[in-house]
Amino acid sequence: MAQAVLDKEIQVKSVDRVRDHGEVLTAKREVEAMLDLVKNESERIDSRFLEPACGDGNFLVAILERKLKTVISRYKSKKADFEVQMLSALSSIYGIDLLEDNIELAIQRMLEIACTCYKNTLKISPDNEFQSIMQFVLKKNILQGDSLNGIDKIIFTQWTLVGYQFKREEFSFSQLNQQAEIMNTPLFASLTNDKGEDVFIPQPIKEYPLTYYRNLGGLE
Ligand SMILES: C[S@@+](CC[C@H](N)C(=O)[O-])C[C@H]1O[C@@H](n2cnc3c(N)ncnc32)[C@H](O)[C@@H]1O
Repeated sequence: MAQAVLDKEIQVKSVDRVRDHGEVLTAKREVEAMLDLVKNESERIDSRFLEPACGDGNFLVAILERKLKTVISRYKSKKADFEVQMLSALSSIYGIDLLEDNIELAIQRMLEIACTCYKNTLKISPDNEFQSIMQFVLKKNILQGDSLNGIDKIIFTQWTLVGYQFKREEFSFSQLNQQAEIMNTPLFASLTNDKGEDVFIPQPIKEYPLTYYRNLGGLE
């Protein structure tokens, strides 16, 4: 089934899945029209997107395609720049879905788009090491989970590009999502902005040392 879903635009996979999980996927035309509402952000390489019920990735792949167009237009002449910016694009897109097969397919689709873009632009295929780095990043960002009742189990990784290195910090979705709780949580520092309003800066639950992008895949 996976290949069929990769090749064709399928909005309903089965009546059972619609009944049990409300799974009706969005057609490409609607996805593109919706992304046009946030056109600049969707084309910015490092703008962060989260799809909390991502299905098999219709929005995720469309956002990736937009970001990669920007990567191609600016960074195609130097391989290291192209690679690191491609990782920046991939690492800024997040998805959650209840169904494991959707998550696997979303990751597979995103990886294929990135590999095809790499090959068409640099005229060589990404080596195995770079493919596993992309996979490593995608597996951290595209997660099986329950974004309504299971957010305490969801850990997001924030990737920040510094030169050719990535800073990697992990945050709990429940902390990011529940501002009311945040106010009473010692993990969060309460600050005031210049209008005197409270602002909350989430604290990572885990931080990693700055890592050269080509060393990311070997970490775990
Ligand atoms: C209407 S489909 C939309 C999928 C995708 N956003 C799209 O537009 O193509 C809803 C998706 O939400 C997922 N889902 C339902 N309840 C969920 C929950 N509590 N947490 C995460 N995903 C959920 C289903 O598995 C299904 O893939």
